[in-house]
Amino acid sequence: MNTTKALKNALACLVILPRFLVAAFMLWCLDFLCVRKRVLFRLRDEEEDDEEEDEDPPLCISDNNRMFSWESLKAVFHGHKLDWMKSARLGHDAPNSEVVPLAEPKRRRAFQRLVLQYSDIADALVIYIEEAHPSDGWISSDAPYQIRQHRSLEERLSASRLMAREAPGCAIVADSMENSSNRAYGAYFDRLYIVQDGKVVYQGGRGPEGYRISELRHWLDQYRKRMRDAVIQV
Ligand SMILES: *[C@@H]1O[C@H](CO)[C@@H](O)[C@H](O)[C@H]1NC(C)=O
Repeated sequence: MNTTKALKNALACLVILPRFLVAAFMLWCLDFLCVRKRVLFRLRDEEEDDEEEDEDPPLCISDNNRMFSWESLKAVFHGHKLDWMKSARLGHDAPNSEVVPLAEPKRRRAFQRLVLQYSDIADALVIYIEEAHPSDGWISSDAPYQIRQHRSLEERLSASRLMAREAPGCAIVADSMENSSNRAYGAYFDRLYIVQDGKVVYQGGRGPEGYRISELRHWLDQYRKRMRDAVIQV
């Protein structure tokens, strides 16, 4: 049993190695101020050009922290590994992972507007997972809160309540301390999914670069259109 697990782990490490090395190289480049400035300017330009992409949160490389560090490499490797090992696959059964309710009024975010606009066809749920930039890990001085990696469910729940405050109106639950949702959905750093009748029908890319609210909107628009056409035909 353990051997299979170890083998699976080793295989995963091998498979993600090339992608991880590319990501690590990019982080290393970003530590050169001239490269960082150039990338930032390009990102800003793209945002201005492309109005449709507007609602996608900008890729944040704004802080002065070093991008290439032991902590950042560990975090990126962890993300790649989760992505590879996740059980959620497009078109397959959506994993019903364990979550923890916050036992507080439900609330929600940038995402909020979309949730409201599509509330007639979709229910939204935010699952708060482990911290991407904990104060005791790959720290980000830009982050609005300094939260250490959760050591207990209480710590995770109180951090998720902070998130709930930022996003009123969104239903939020917390991942279990076994990180079941994070593992099943390869959610780290952040990720979007649409589940319909228990099946994964939309799978967003690994965040932050793959986190695209515009893609979600596009899927929902198409779906709404199909529903309308179906009604007209009846
Ligand atoms: C779940 O994630 C936390 C980080 O928030 C970590 O400390 C913990 O070890 C993880 N749990 C398991 C069972 O891997």
